[in-house]
Amino acid sequence: MRHSTFFVKSYGCQMNIYDSEKITTILENRGFKQNNNLESADLVVFNTCNIRNKAAHKLYSDIGRVNKHKKKRTIAVVGCVAQAENEEMFKKNKSIDIILGPQSYHLLPQMIDDLKQKPKQLNTEFIVNEKFDYLSEQKRQQGVSSYLTIQEGCDKFCSFCVVPYTRGPEYSRTLTSLINEVNFLTENGAKEIVLLGQNVNAYSASHNGRKISISDLIEEIAKNENVKRIRYTTSHPINMSDNLIKLHSTNDKLMPFLHLPVQSGSSNILKKMNRKYDVDFYRKIIEKLKAINPKIEISSDFIIGYPGETEADFKKTLDLVNEIKFTQSYSFIYSARPGTKSSFEEDKTPLSIKKERLLVLQEKLRSIQFEFNSTFCGKNVDVLVENQSTSNPEYFFGRTPFMQSVYIKSQNINLGEVKNVNISTCNHKNLYANC
Ligand code: SAH
Ligand code: SF4
Ligand code: F3S
Repeated sequence: MRHSTFFVKSYGCQMNIYDSEKITTILENRGFKQNNNLESADLVVFNTCNIRNKAAHKLYSDIGRVNKHKKKRTIAVVGCVAQAENEEMFKKNKSIDIILGPQSYHLLPQMIDDLKQKPKQLNTEFIVNEKFDYLSEQKRQQGVSSYLTIQEGCDKFCSFCVVPYTRGPEYSRTLTSLINEVNFLTENGAKEIVLLGQNVNAYSASHNGRKISISDLIEEIAKNENVKRIRYTTSHPINMSDNLIKLHSTNDKLMPFLHLPVQSGSSNILKKMNRKYDVDFYRKIIEKLKAINPKIEISSDFIIGYPGETEADFKKTLDLVNEIKFTQSYSFIYSARPGTKSSFEEDKTPLSIKKERLLVLQEKLRSIQFEFNSTFCGKNVDVLVENQSTSNPEYFFGRTPFMQSVYIKSQNINLGEVKNVNISTCNHKNLYANC
């Protein structure tokens, strides 16, 4: 199998994308060559997501697409669906050769070799420290804005969520391995480091006998003079410590933007979801953040149509959206996931009502986002320039401190620079500038 080609497809969250980068590096280091064409690759790796039914379903339709082409190839299903469905997948689809959980990617090359002895290979054990020890060595150049997984797993067990089952318990990487990786990334052009974790602000490690948290880690990373911007995602409200909140006013490199999913504006629903906070608790965090840095902007995730959500509960979510004025957000209709606590709850609300509620919420979120973007028209804002268009080299893409996407037409700009640009127009998604 040496020097054959591979294709990797990612379905999930940023951590899933980060893992796919690592898988790519592992395979390249073993002599495989990346092939961007799913149809002609010798090895196809599907890095799956199990968070909602739709994400999991997509996998099986993609395997069907691969199988339309007669070419003999190896199919590896890795990630969160692999972890959740385990050997059942071999029964569901005979063409799968390898099933590998998210904690064991480092075993992939060995499993490919072992196919010669045993035609079906499976590993779904939780051996997370081994994974990170190995992956720390598999460094890969990313971009101007680079992901760095600092923490994995979840101990929170929200009633609707598969992550504690697919990613296992919370685990934090060591400070030393993270600083080494940041140094590698910045030596290769990174200017922004995006710290990742399913509960990124629950990061907790020990260093020289001292307990360190995410705020200590951010301060350490900020000492690297090539790092211009730092972000972290996804945070849980109960882990928003006062130290972390304070850092948003004392550390210039930490961006004034926070993704802090609330899920619902009804304390009644939050209780059923086992989110471990109520709306007032959430509101107080936002108040503290705004008090120390009035510029800070917030984004969130929302679940619509959780079992038992009434019209009054939904109205409370709309009220919270109007109050906090989230400037970006993701919203989803509740999806019952096998094995989760909420999947056993009675759910009487028809899908048509849930769809209506989602539309109303999304319209509201969109108009707030447009209003926020409009306040930038005619004004100057700092943009970190991340990419250049390949088809038209006069166009560049970057982001403001508040994560807004900016398209810039310019003949006088460099990748990786923070450029102060004048915004000419906008819509709810993007800002536009000439310079
Ligand atoms: N750890 C993060 C969220 C990780 S999952 C947190 O606690 O906020 C990303 C998002 O997917 C969640 O915020 C939630 O909005 C959504 N999600 C998770 N499970 C879901 C389900 N069963 N149905 C619909 N959306 C879901
Ligand atoms: Fe899922 Fe809740 Fe853990 Fe987030 S905190 S990953 S929603 S169980
Ligand atoms: Fe999906 Fe797993 Fe991420 S379920 S959202 S890929 S942690």
